[in-house]
This record gives sequence, C-alpha cells and structure tokens, in this order.
Amino acid sequence: MSELSACPETAALPNGFELTELSPHFLQDPHPILDRLRQEAPRHIHAHAHFPQAPTGLYLTRIEDVRAIFSDATYQRDPRKTPLGSLARSFAPPAMLDPAPHGNLLYMDGAEHRRVRSLVSRAFTPKSIATKRGEIEAIAARLLEEAAAKPDFDAIAEFAAPYPIYVIGDMLGFSRADMPQFRAWSEDLIFVFNPLRSPDEDRRQMAAFAGLDAYFAEQIARRRRQPSEDLLSAIIHTQDGGDTLTDPEVSSLLLLLLLAGNLTTADVIGNGLHALITHPDEWAALVVDPDLAVPATEELLRYGPPVAIAARYVPEDRDILGCPVKKGAAVVVSLLGANRDPEAFEDPHAFRIRRGRRDHAAFGGGAHACLGAPLARLEIEIALRLLASRYPRLRLAAPAVRDRPTIGFVGFRSLRLSLT
Ligand code: HEM
Repeated sequence: MSELSACPETAALPNGFELTELSPHFLQDPHPILDRLRQEAPRHIHAHAHFPQAPTGLYLTRIEDVRAIFSDATYQRDPRKTPLGSLARSFAPPAMLDPAPHGNLLYMDGAEHRRVRSLVSRAFTPKSIATKRGEIEAIAARLLEEAAAKPDFDAIAEFAAPYPIYVIGDMLGFSRADMPQFRAWSEDLIFVFNPLRSPDEDRRQMAAFAGLDAYFAEQIARRRRQPSEDLLSAIIHTQDGGDTLTDPEVSSLLLLLLLAGNLTTADVIGNGLHALITHPDEWAALVVDPDLAVPATEELLRYGPPVAIAARYVPEDRDILGCPVKKGAAVVVSLLGANRDPEAFEDPHAFRIRRGRRDHAAFGGGAHACLGAPLARLEIEIALRLLASRYPRLRLAAPAVRDRPTIGFVGFRSLRLSLT
C-alpha cells in the first residue's frame, strides 16, 4: 500500500450521485471533476446523501490506491456480509441478499467465490477464446456489411450492442433461430443499471429476466441429457474433484455473462469509435496499419473504459490509506479516474493508439478481475481491424447522444456513423 496521508475534510467536493452519470455535469465530462478529486482529495470521504444510514466511505481516484484495494482479498463484495443500511445492500439485486447460494461471482467472497470462479475459468480459458476468432470475425463482418449498405447507421444499436450478444450466444451454443429473442431479452437487461427506469422499462426488465430464466433452464436440461461441444456444456460438465455447478448456479452465471459482458463491450466500442473519429490522425494511422488494432484496443480501454467504478466493503473498522473507515462502509474505486492518473500514464488525457498499455484499470483487478477480458479484447481488436481495413471513410453522421442514465457505466445512447 502507498504511504499514509491525511484524510482531509472534503465536503465541498462532489459526492454520491454527483459522481455518477446521473449528474449532468459528470455526464458531460467527468474528467475535470475526477482530476480535481485526484489532486485535492485522492482519498475522498464519500457520504451518500441518498443513503443516510450507510457508513461514510471512501472514493479513490489514484491508480496506486485502486490497485491496493483490488489486491487486498480481505475487502468484501458480498452484500449479505454487510450491516443493514449499507450501500452494498441498497444496490444489491434482491436475489443476492438471499442466504441461499446464488452462483453470481460478482457478489461472492472467499472460498465460495474461489470455488465457482475456478469451475467457470476451466471452461472459459483464454486459449479456448482464441479459437473463436474466425466465428467472431464472421459476426462482426456481417453486421458491418449490413450497416455499410445504408447511408448511415446507429453504431450502438446496429453494431456495438448486438455484436457481443451474438458472440456469446454463439459460444454458448444457442441456436441462430433463437437469436432475435435472445438479443431482445439481453438488451432489456440494460435497464437493471438504470435506477430511474420507467414503469415500462421495469416491466421489460422483469420480462427479460423471466424469459431468460426459462430459456436457460431448458438449454441446461438439454445439455445435461446430451452434452455438446459448446461453452454451456463445458460450464455444466466441468469438474473439480467431483464438484460441479448446480443448475441455479449455471443459470445465474449465464445471466452474469450477459450482464457483465454485453453492455461493457458495446460501450467500449462506442466510446472508442467516437475517440477515433474525433482524433483523425489516430484513425489515419490505424487505417494505414490495421495491426495497430492490438495496442489500440488497450488505449480504447484506458481512455474510454465502460465501467466507471467498482466497490468493495470494509469487514471491520479499519484505517484505509490514512482514513478511518467503519465496518460495512463502501470503498468506491474510480476506474475512469485511475486510467487518467498522470503518475501512471504520461499525458493521460491524450488519446494515442500506439500507447498500448495493458496495465490500465478497465478490467478491475484482484480476485474479481474481469473473467471475460480475453474475449472482450478479441472482440474489440477484431472490430477495429475490420473497420480500419474495410471502411477507411468512417465518420460521424450526426452528433453523438450520451444521455443514458446509468450509475456505473459510461457509454453513448446513440452514435450515428457513416461507413462509405
Ligand atoms: C470491455 C469489456 C469489459 C469490461 C471493461 C469489463 C470490466 C469488468 C470489471 C471492471 C469487472 C470487475 C468488477 C468488480 O471488481 O467489481 C468485471 C468482472 C467480470 N466480468 Fe467483465 N468486462 C468486460 C467484458 C466482459 C465479458 C465479455 C464477459 C463475459 C462474457 C465478462 C465477464 C465478467 C465476469 C463473469 C466478471 C465477474 C468476475 C468475478 O467476480 O470473479 N466481462 N468485468
């Protein structure tokens, strides 16, 4: 951990929802706010006015502090272990507060987390992901060909959003005929991240959960009877000394793969395309040498990470980086802020596709580091390579629309582009 420092009173600085996309200022440009926090109060006392019962926590913006929190396995993720009134309980989906095992990796700690993560990781290895390059390219190429046939298109709705959904659906072994329905349910899951959703969006979200639940149950039962070569069969039949995942655990994991993988990948592609178009020299360099797609993928993740924050909870009263913090308090780490830390990245607000630094914080870190990182990296690289080699005239067709109210994710609602 870094040196202890004073933990100044920071009530005058933005706090709570002001540090999320729910604030118009933050939504418009979060970086002046995050830069100010990093300079004036890198260990910012974070009192959430909307949750007055929650103990005061910390909001961290330096990458060194963020890494220190991720690498300390004594912090908790499981809301069931935090006291009543904690932020973890306020934000947790109801199923995560049930004492029964739920199989959702993101909300588990310690041995329970290690068990499920180790079983899934056996099926979801970087090596097995690499073999999917051809299939992933075919999906991206088809979507882009459809887009190129139009004068302009919405790169979020017509490319970045469906692309990871088709990829994961294909890998899991779901039939192409089921894809339109699978895509509709997967896209409606996005409303889970919007606490301001309308009654109609709420209904769509609930219908998506119910639809996917029934669909997964049928797919799991089919593969229990007759395994095939797909990722879902591998997840179901993977073993560790006779231990396997139960059906509810598999189902919960499938939901997590969709929730954790689709919006994130879509957002980083949208943010990245916007960055490339608004930095024409960088785009021109990629067009001349599409192999730059590999370092460019890392720069897209550093410059425009889709996950803005991650949180850990404090198991007992303790002193964190010089600040006294109470049991059950949230330590919120800003991945957006960490990725622009000038101590780690020279000229951090400059977008340079050759920078190629893999040590950004976009995928989190420690025990919960993104399981899907190899897949996400491959999807982004393939998209960039195809775009640069086939559609050098890529340009904005209308001003980008950012107004998507989510509390932890950064992305465009709509991005109209022209390919030809
Ligand atoms: C660019 C795209 C992606 C980004 C930026 C991203 C980011 C993250 C981050 C920051 C975490 C850690 C959250 C925390 O510690 O609180 C995480 C966890 C996770 N991600 Fe991703 N993710 C991406 C794509 C994917 C994909 C494609 C999948 C799978 C299909 C996936 C599956 C997961 C899973 C299962 C976890 C939970 C791991 C655990 O708790 O042990 N992610 N991701």
